[in-house]
Amino acid sequence: MEHARSHLFDHAATTGRGLETRDIGDTETYDRYLGFDSKESFMEWLKEGVVADIGAGECMMSIDIMLNNQSTAEITSVEPKLKNPEFRKKVLERARKIFLEQGIKSSELVEKMQAFENGLKDFSWDNLEFEDEAFDKIISVVSFPYWEFSKEGVSKGLHEMYRILKKGGEMRLSPLHKTFSVISRNEEIHSEEHLYLDEFTSIAKRIGFNVSTVDLKGEKYTSCVILTK
Ligand SMILES: C[S@@+](CC[C@H](N)C(=O)[O-])C[C@H]1O[C@@H](n2cnc3c(N)ncnc32)[C@H](O)[C@@H]1O
Repeated sequence: MEHARSHLFDHAATTGRGLETRDIGDTETYDRYLGFDSKESFMEWLKEGVVADIGAGECMMSIDIMLNNQSTAEITSVEPKLKNPEFRKKVLERARKIFLEQGIKSSELVEKMQAFENGLKDFSWDNLEFEDEAFDKIISVVSFPYWEFSKEGVSKGLHEMYRILKKGGEMRLSPLHKTFSVISRNEEIHSEEHLYLDEFTSIAKRIGFNVSTVDLKGEKYTSCVILTK
């Protein structure tokens, strides 16, 4: 999981625009963002099943899972930027480089790259072109507060996620701020609309999710939201 750590640290150091994760520092990892006690418990959760990573960026989560011999999870990375051929090419080249660095033999590389590429989808979270109940687990890390700026959009996106999640499935969105609006936080967008965590969880409950939150370790103000169906 080395790549996830360095990637998230890079991300946190170079982005921000008000997202509090910037301050978390170089010990940050996906397991912590997603409310697990340890990497081991996160990997146990990801040991199997059909998983979607929504707002996947450069799709590092897919690479990590595909490199983990303990996991048979089948992972799909949903990232609208994949529509851009240059971005897609960059993601594929990076994956190939990491697979080779991590000791994947050239004889296995074609198959590995094919599986990786098959899992790349350029959809937006509010129009997920998957069958109903296609996924056991959905994750979205350091993503959601960047891209949603209206309550209506949140409701539409959550409906889509609910539709594609299996009964008994679990979705984890993180990090969401406990006191700031979880939308309209991009200073460049000057939207008048705000949505606080309580209202976000009410929308999710109305849609049908069971909702709980886990405080991020060492963080006073941010939570991972766990939504089950
Ligand atoms: C801050 S990045 C996080 C990337 C990744 N989860 C990670 O941990 O490195 C947020 C991503 O959300 C994507 N995004 C933007 N609008 C989106 C939408 N409508 N649906 C899904 N993803 C979106 C962006 O393109 C961007 O790659």
